[in-house]
Amino acid sequence: MVKIKKIEDDAASLASLKPFRLVKFFSYSGLAVFLLFTLVLSWVISNHAKKVLLERSEAYAFVVAENLSHQVFQQFVLPTVVRYGKIALRNPEQFARLDSVVRNATHGMRIQAVTIFDSRENIISYSTVSTRIGRTGEGGIEYRKALAGENNSVVLSTGSLLNLLPGARPISSQLSTFIPFRQYQANNQKGDVIMGVIEVVQDLSEDVVAITKLQGSIILTSMLIMSALFVVLGFIVARADRIIDARAEERRRLEQQLNQSQRLATLGKMVASVSHEIKNPLGIVRSTADILGKRLKSVAPGNEHLAEIIVEETGRLDGIVREFLDFARPQELKMAPTSVNDIFSKILTFMAPELERQNIVLETSLAQDIPQVSLDQGLMHRACLNILVNGVQSMPEGGKLTVETRYEKTTGMVLLVVSDTGGGMSLEKLGHIFTPFYTDKNRGTGLGLAIVKNIVDSHQGTISVDSKEGEGTTFTIALPLG
Ligand SMILES: Nc1ncnc2c1ncn2[C@@H]1O[C@H](COP(=O)(O)OP(=O)(O)O)[C@@H](O)[C@H]1O
Ligand SMILES: [Mg+2]
Repeated sequence: MVKIKKIEDDAASLASLKPFRLVKFFSYSGLAVFLLFTLVLSWVISNHAKKVLLERSEAYAFVVAENLSHQVFQQFVLPTVVRYGKIALRNPEQFARLDSVVRNATHGMRIQAVTIFDSRENIISYSTVSTRIGRTGEGGIEYRKALAGENNSVVLSTGSLLNLLPGARPISSQLSTFIPFRQYQANNQKGDVIMGVIEVVQDLSEDVVAITKLQGSIILTSMLIMSALFVVLGFIVARADRIIDARAEERRRLEQQLNQSQRLATLGKMVASVSHEIKNPLGIVRSTADILGKRLKSVAPGNEHLAEIIVEETGRLDGIVREFLDFARPQELKMAPTSVNDIFSKILTFMAPELERQNIVLETSLAQDIPQVSLDQGLMHRACLNILVNGVQSMPEGGKLTVETRYEKTTGMVLLVVSDTGGGMSLEKLGHIFTPFYTDKNRGTGLGLAIVKNIVDSHQGTISVDSKEGEGTTFTIALPLG
């Protein structure tokens, strides 16, 4: 039965945890998906930017190359043919002229190099990069395409995002554009004869680096944002975990309390019925032993103490049974305005001989101006008696018992203070003394203070204890006037 209940409880707490775990899972996976999405997005953006850059650069290169081919034809080819009869770039004068035409035409434009290939053989007739001049076979497929009349271009790129790291090789990107070098007709229209191929090289490294940096910063920013979100989410989850744990703990505690009070209620009923059953036969045993004692006096003198032992022990048993009944019986308060001083006076008169026997000095300080308190006299008498008896029991070798009553105007409470100079209690013990059946006495029931607490609680009062091991104990009951 108990096991089944525990399983049900576990299932219930698991069920309440489930939605939270789902939320946790969705939040974390949502962040991961978002991160992945930004990575893909940054890749798409930078690729698109590179594509646009290439298209624009290519279009620009075509215009530059067309213009160049026109200039070279007009300002170099025509004048040279007129002057020398044919073009021979080995002639330094001709070369210098071509070079100056090319340089003038490309001056101030973002052009890295210009190369002119011959049409008959794949040979470089002119290049702004002097080491290339005269080389053969360098024009690849783009050269042949241009020779066939088609403008085209090729990109030579090295490096990626990783090349942005310090110490890595720098990113480089070059766009080589090839166009056919045509003869122009008199009306400046392009003719059909292709004399060679013009290659224009643009250095796009700077732009590509800028785009790659942009890609890097998108990735970095999104990673930073994501990690910040992860940290925040982590904090929230940890906090929620703590709250959930605390709630589960609180629920367990409440359940335990409930179980305990249920157990105590059942126990109380049992104790009440058993004690009740014992009380009557106990009375009969006691009175019979009394009679027996008197008879023994005449029949077997000197043995009366045997009967006295029975009477004494039944008396003690009766006390225990009464304590049990007091503890278990539901209390109906019969409230009436009462003087707390009277309660103490009655008890102390009754206890005086016992105190004397035990070498206990009594000191009383009962305030006279104290107002009457609405309380159940019988019960409060019982509570004070229990505390006083405990005090006496704590001083087997004698000591001082102090009883004090006081009215505190500020709080409107009447205080009943009982102090002894007995053995005192450790902190650990103090935590248990109000628990039913807690006792360290051989013949104790452990119910005295539990009963006191019940009575004080039912009067809306409070009870506090101050104790020092080896020095003594002070109990203070505070009661509202009612
Ligand atoms: N005045 C006191 N000085 C020292 N210990 C005390 C005092 N009052 C109570 N105690 C401790 O509290 C325990 C519980 O007291 P109580 O509930 O009256 O049960 P019992 O008197 O039957 O032991 C005692 O066994 C004792 O250890
Ligand atoms: Mg006691």
